[in-house]
Amino acid sequence: MQVTVVQGDITVQDVDAVVNAANRRMRGGGGVDGAIHAAGGPEVLEDCRRRFPDGLATGAAGWTTAGRMPARWVIHVVGPNWNRGERDRSLLVSCYTGALAVADELGARSVAFPLVSAGVYGWPREDAIRAAIDTLRATPTGVEEARIVAYGRSALDEVASALGD
Ligand code: AR6
Repeated sequence: MQVTVVQGDITVQDVDAVVNAANRRMRGGGGVDGAIHAAGGPEVLEDCRRRFPDGLATGAAGWTTAGRMPARWVIHVVGPNWNRGERDRSLLVSCYTGALAVADELGARSVAFPLVSAGVYGWPREDAIRAAIDTLRATPTGVEEARIVAYGRSALDEVASALGD
């Protein structure tokens, strides 16, 4: 699998699936989650209610429709909330392994990832980038492209440099 990086908005990526950095309630929120629900439209929330009536655990992954986005599916993951003291790195790693496992179930060949937990949840960005890249590179999968979507120039530069290491 190729791990690539682009700068931009995850909701407009032309991929089979986009990954959402959701929360345990699975009813929308800010950051990537807000952008995905806004771009996908109400179908995404309806599918979340139907498929995840009790929400999703930290570190877990599950999918819904992508509604009006170019992608076919949203793969929702719940990253650990560093700011609330959830600092077990294996929970962050499991967001990436779990997302790839769901992508394989769906037959998705290209998947766009945000930097899970690196926004509102406050995971230190350098380590969030390392966890993303190392886990994506180490996990056996049928996915051909894992595209990290960096939101802003400095995130792009940091991901690009970490990919070169
Ligand atoms: N496209 C790509 N990346 C984005 C976008 C976008 N449209 N918007 C933000 N980012 P965050 P978390 C980057 O906060 O830390 C929500 O309220 C952002 O700069 O979206 O896992 C949920 O409902 C950062 O690098 O997710 C949860 O309650 C990264 O995406 C909570 O936030 C992740 O930032 C989850 O927090």
